[in-house]
Order: sequence, then C-alpha cells, then structure tokens
Amino acid sequence: MQITRGIKLLFLVSMVSIVASMFVGCAGNTSELVMGTNAEFPPFEYIGDDGQPDGFDVALVKEIARRMNVGVKIENMEFKSLIGSLANGKIDLIAAGMTVTEERKKEVDFSKTYFTANQMIIIPVGSEINSALDLKGMVVGVQEGTTGDIIVSEEDVDEKEYDVKEVKRYKKGIDAVMDLINGRVEAVVIDSNPAAEYVKSNEGKIVAIESGMEPEEYAIAVKKGNTKLLEKIDKALTEIKQDGTYDKLIKQYIQ
Ligand code: ARG
Repeated sequence: MQITRGIKLLFLVSMVSIVASMFVGCAGNTSELVMGTNAEFPPFEYIGDDGQPDGFDVALVKEIARRMNVGVKIENMEFKSLIGSLANGKIDLIAAGMTVTEERKKEVDFSKTYFTANQMIIIPVGSEINSALDLKGMVVGVQEGTTGDIIVSEEDVDEKEYDVKEVKRYKKGIDAVMDLINGRVEAVVIDSNPAAEYVKSNEGKIVAIESGMEPEEYAIAVKKGNTKLLEKIDKALTEIKQDGTYDKLIKQYIQ
C-alpha cells in the first residue's frame, strides 16, 4: 500500500515537472520573458567577453523583468527574423534598437519609446562623399532589414531620394564595415551609436558623417494585441525613467 502510494506520488511529481519543463524558456510563460534580439548592434546589444549577450537593451529588459518578478531568456537571431519570431510565439518581446515605423506597427505593438537615434553614413577616410546626396550612384552597405536598408533601398522611382547604384545587405553591421575598409562598398548607412563604435575601433580608416535622414525612436515590440505584457513593460519603463535607473544605464552603456 505504502509502496504504491509512493509510486503514484513519484509519477505525479514527475508528470508535473515534465509539464513544467515544457513551459520553461518558452515564450508566453509567465515566469520568464523571452527576449529576441540581434546581438550585433553595440552598444545596445553585443556578445560580451563571457560569450553572453550584453548591452543597453539587455540591461534594460533585465531591469523591466526584475520589476515584473520574472526571469529573462535571450534568443539571439538575425535582425530580419525578429518580427516573425514574435508573431509565431518563439519570443515574447523584441529589444534590438528597433525603430518604430508605420510598416512595423502593422505587425507588432510598440512600447513607449526609450531612445532617439539617427542614421549615419560611414565612409573611408578621404572619401569624396560629403552628404547623403553623394550616395547617388554608389555601392552602399547596410544591415539587412534595418531602417538603413529600407531607406537606401527605396525603389519608388518618384520618391527615390538617394538613387544608389547597389545596396549590399549584410547579416551583421560589422561585416558591412569590414567590406567598407576592404573597398567592396563605398559607404555604410547605419544607426548613430553603432556607427560611433565601429569608427572608434577602426580609427584612422573610417569616419561617420550625418545623413540628414529623419530621427528614429527605439521601442520594445510585443506581439500584436498583447496589451497585458505591453502595459507591464510601459509601467516599468516609466518607473525606470523616473527613478534614475535609465540615466544610470545610459551612463553605463552609452556615454
Ligand atoms: N534601428 C534600426 C532598425 O530598427 C536598426 C536596428 C538594428 N538592431 C540590431 N540589433 N541589429 O531597423
């Protein structure tokens, strides 16, 4: 009698833990937020010396999760795969220096914005490019699926502002920069903060100039209609800004 009860209990316990383990690390689970990112965008996200994703967005989401009493799991993937992964439930949120755009708003819901950036043009030292107008007829490198890509790839003939010769799309911004240094592209269009980082680590070879393109606002994205999560994120973001944590993170990662 005792033994069968023990076995029954064991069975129950193991069923419970099997079911529980099915939820761990799975988007939609209430004890853990699965953050999707593309850790190729310093200082917002990059792989740290310990091999783990780090950066402003990582720290920000960890802080939001801490205030929600949940853990964080990070899924690192290509930038262009993020929105699809959110839609199919692989991740709960995107924190990837993602700019709010009207097109993206059709596919995801955005939190309050948390950072303003703009596109910069990285060129080799000595390049004749002085402004975005000089991109006309040039071979330009971008990170695939980013706003930089979308802007220079504009194909509407009437609205074709930049009229570049060719857009080369890279999975990683740094690979575009390497091709710039090797002379395979003539300019790279990328967000201001990673641009500054890439220039700093390749001093004397490349410089970044203003593009004059519209400023962009970064926000966290959640699956369309996930207002429950969005409200919690917005509440935490407001607190983080008000209590000085935001400034602390900016100092730590960006300034
Ligand atoms: N702000 C740009 C965009 O939303 C680039 C973001 C790239 N982020 C990244 N983690 N690679 O398209």
